Parts: sequence; structure tokens; C-alpha cells
Amino acid sequence: RLRGVVALDGPSGTGKSTVSKKLAAALGATYLDTGAMYRAVTLAVLRAGIDPTEAAAVTRVARAAELGMGTDPLAPAVRLDGADAEPEIRGPEVTAAVSAVSAVPEVRRLLVAMQRELIASAIDDPGGIVVEGRDIGTVVVPDAGLKVYLTASSDARAARRTAQDASDGRESDLRSTHADVQRRDALDSGRAVAPLRQAEDAVEVDTTDLDIAGVLEQLTKLVESRG
Ligand code: C5P
Repeated sequence: RLRGVVALDGPSGTGKSTVSKKLAAALGATYLDTGAMYRAVTLAVLRAGIDPTEAAAVTRVARAAELGMGTDPLAPAVRLDGADAEPEIRGPEVTAAVSAVSAVPEVRRLLVAMQRELIASAIDDPGGIVVEGRDIGTVVVPDAGLKVYLTASSDARAARRTAQDASDGRESDLRSTHADVQRRDALDSGRAVAPLRQAEDAVEVDTTDLDIAGVLEQLTKLVESRG
């Protein structure tokens, strides 16, 4: 078991990103946002004018893309081809296309290899590393010291994403966000390679009726009890 690794998986809108960053900061840990990596490759695909469902062309773009992942939870940064890729990777175009890109097996192979390297280089840090995604506990680090699977009702998740969009200054409405959340979950859970699912040994935390502080409290207890 890799005691220094906390794996946080689950669908979007569970508060995963917010609590992962806060947990990492509280533990003095490094932080890795694997969703940002799939988003950055998707941005490269869209910039190249390529159809995100064209696996061969997507693979070529993914191989050529130069990703740089900042791992400070207080200042997470994603670079694509030498330039800051935030906030573009959070925009609606990338969000609409990312599930197709992340279903391409070669994209996953490339990014999982990069993720494992980043994790290996942080694992001996005193605070360890917090890694968030969809397949961290099942595929990327199956021997993580703690695996958490965050869930929430789809209503709660759509409401949170809409609030997040508003606070980031993006336009969105509850109905279309609800539809988008369900569409993306179906694609992420239904893909052939590394589908979104709970690892057998992951602890499930239902965040429907919890605020961020409540989720963080539960996670902190789990970290303390991991032995
Ligand atoms: O977490 P976030 O919403 O940024 O993730 C964006 C997308 O990236 C997900 O909907 C999923 O398609 C993909 N993803 C993935 N595996 C991961 C992390 C994200 O397939 N480990």
C-alpha cells in the first residue's frame, strides 16, 4: 500500500476538485488534477480543428501536445505548449468534447504514464500527494493508501456546477447543466477503457447533504484513520 497517496474519484459536481485542493493544502501534500490533463489534450484537439471522435487524429495531437502540470494545491496550473491553459480548459467547448477524447485508449495510455511519473516523484514528500480523477483508485494507483469515491444526487451535482459556472463568470442554466452532467456521466461510465466506477476497496462519501467543510471533515477523519 502506498501510504502517501490519496485517490479521490467520482463524477463531476460532487465537490471533488474543491475538496481535493483543500485536503492537499491541509496535509501539506502535492495535488494532481488528472481531469485537467484530459481537458488540456481536448483543448489541443479543438485548436487543431480535429473531430474529438476521430481516434487516430486525436492520438496524433495527444502525442504532440506538450503538457505541464503544476502540483501546488494553492496555485494549480496547467500549461499546454508552453502557455497557461486556464481558464480555457474549463469552458463549455472543452467540457462538451472531453469525454470523447478521454475515451481514446492511446490518450489514456499517454496520460496515465505521465500521471504515474508525477505521483512517483511526489510519493516520498512528507505530505504525500492527493490525486483526483475518475480511474485513480481503479487503474492509475490501485495500491493507493486511501481511496475515496465521492457521490451526490444528479440534482445536487447540476446545482453545484451551475453555481461554479456563475462564480467563474461562465453562462449556464440548471436544465442544460443537468443534461450535460448526465450525458458526461453516461459516457465516462460506459466507455470500454477505464470506465468511471468505484474501486472495491474505496470508501464512498455521499456529499448530497454536505457542504465543503462537511466533506473535508469526513476526508480528514479517513486520512487520520488510514493507519
Ligand atoms: O474532473 P473533470 O470534470 O475536470 O474531468 C473532465 C473529464 O476528463 C471527465 O468527464 C472524463 O471524461 C475525463 N477524465 C477521465 N479520467 C480521469 C479524469 C478525467 O477520463 N482520471
